[in-house]
Amino acid sequence: QECSLAAMIPRLTRRRLLQSTAALPVAVSAWPARAARVHEIALVAKPAQARLVGANHPMTEVWTFNGTAPGPVIRARQGDSLKIAVENRLPQETTVHWHGIRLPNAMDGVPHLTQKPIAPGESFTYQFAVPDAGTYWYHPHAMSHEQVPRGLHGALIVEEDAPPRVDRDELWVLADWRLDKEAKLIADFGNFRDMSHDGRLGNTVTVNGSELDEWPLRVGERVRLRLINACSARIFALEFKDHRPFVIALDGQPVAPREPPDNRVILGPAERADLILDATGKPGQRSGVIDAFEPHRAYRLVDLVYGGKALRETALPPPPSLKANALPEPDLKRAERHKAVFTGGMMGGQFEAALDGRMLDPRGLAERGKFWAVNGVAGGDHHPGHAMAPFLTVKRGAHCVIELINDTAWRHPIHLHGHAFRVVSEGGKTLSPMDWRDTVLMAPRARMEIALVADNPGDWMFHCHILDHQQGGMMAHVRVE
Ligand code: C2O
Ligand code: CU
Repeated sequence: QECSLAAMIPRLTRRRLLQSTAALPVAVSAWPARAARVHEIALVAKPAQARLVGANHPMTEVWTFNGTAPGPVIRARQGDSLKIAVENRLPQETTVHWHGIRLPNAMDGVPHLTQKPIAPGESFTYQFAVPDAGTYWYHPHAMSHEQVPRGLHGALIVEEDAPPRVDRDELWVLADWRLDKEAKLIADFGNFRDMSHDGRLGNTVTVNGSELDEWPLRVGERVRLRLINACSARIFALEFKDHRPFVIALDGQPVAPREPPDNRVILGPAERADLILDATGKPGQRSGVIDAFEPHRAYRLVDLVYGGKALRETALPPPPSLKANALPEPDLKRAERHKAVFTGGMMGGQFEAALDGRMLDPRGLAERGKFWAVNGVAGGDHHPGHAMAPFLTVKRGAHCVIELINDTAWRHPIHLHGHAFRVVSEGGKTLSPMDWRDTVLMAPRARMEIALVADNPGDWMFHCHILDHQQGGMMAHVRVE
């Protein structure tokens, strides 16, 4: 059945003014000026209680990093290193993937492909430098379709050497939860419907770990708002009523500041957007932030509420561009061309796919929990001593264009590990600008091209970030050798 938002848990009147992101635990916050630093951080993955909805409801048992969902905000400056000890106190094995970070393959956190999973009671230490400034995040890559929507996700922020001047640098980690009337997580992970349709949609959307009524603004202030979509399936189309935010970065990578088309910020699972939000309202004003991705089921995410004294009386000029990260520029003329065809799902028509070397029809696949394929292969899990073959092998340094063909009736946010890529074309039309991304949201039946220099050696996952689709077979990997 359909889970409509807010149907199950009545919204409560909450007074949470002035404490939104201030309540987020910060693992690393201040640093002296400037030599590259190593930040040592301990993350413990463990169950804990969280107050996702109002105080009139019971707490929810979730899975957390260090007791909170989202986990602690990890902050470093561009060029610094992180040394993160992850201890697993969950009832199942886990890993942590550092989404969007261009790091050495062995630190990428993919079970049996880049590391042995961390068994319950065990630990693993990740260590890597953060070469690119921007907004990133971290989450397990083992049983992701269960572990991420149980609460295991957190922000990883890499500060620019010279950050843009803003009055506040804020973060909204967006997550959704499937709760019953007692605010208990419904643990129907990987069910047939979610896997074969549009994934696990929750019925309760939280901002930084709780349902949010109000978010304070002061007249005239300029806020950098970092948005992270940590949902397993929900796509947002955020409308900031009465406001005209600028997008200044996508998936961590700067873009020339621009107003989003139709004043809506579209954010698929795993995608991030950095906004400049100028508070152009009046004292006492209330303006909704609406998620209108499904127009007939639009809902209010939060109200921006003006209070306090005006910070500034005059409007600010448009924000300047952030400094680009040093990404290798693909040469489209000499690039080798490859294809990734995505098939399967409900209403996907007849198709066949190989699973562990056997050709199966949709029914045979469904019996084995698979519904999707990349280039005719349903991605299985990697097991000890049995990693799947890469769907694509390229030489280190190769310039590549990959044509993405969505031969399904569904949307898919397609993510490549270890690299950023340019989105070159859509529907045969060359795009301008060609944004850098690590995740690209494909419309049903869409054809797109992405381009990159495969400069990072190793086995890199390439998968849909609707986590039930990934689990259901829409995953593969690229070998850069
Ligand atoms: Cu956000 Cu393969 O991951
Ligand atoms: Cu998908």
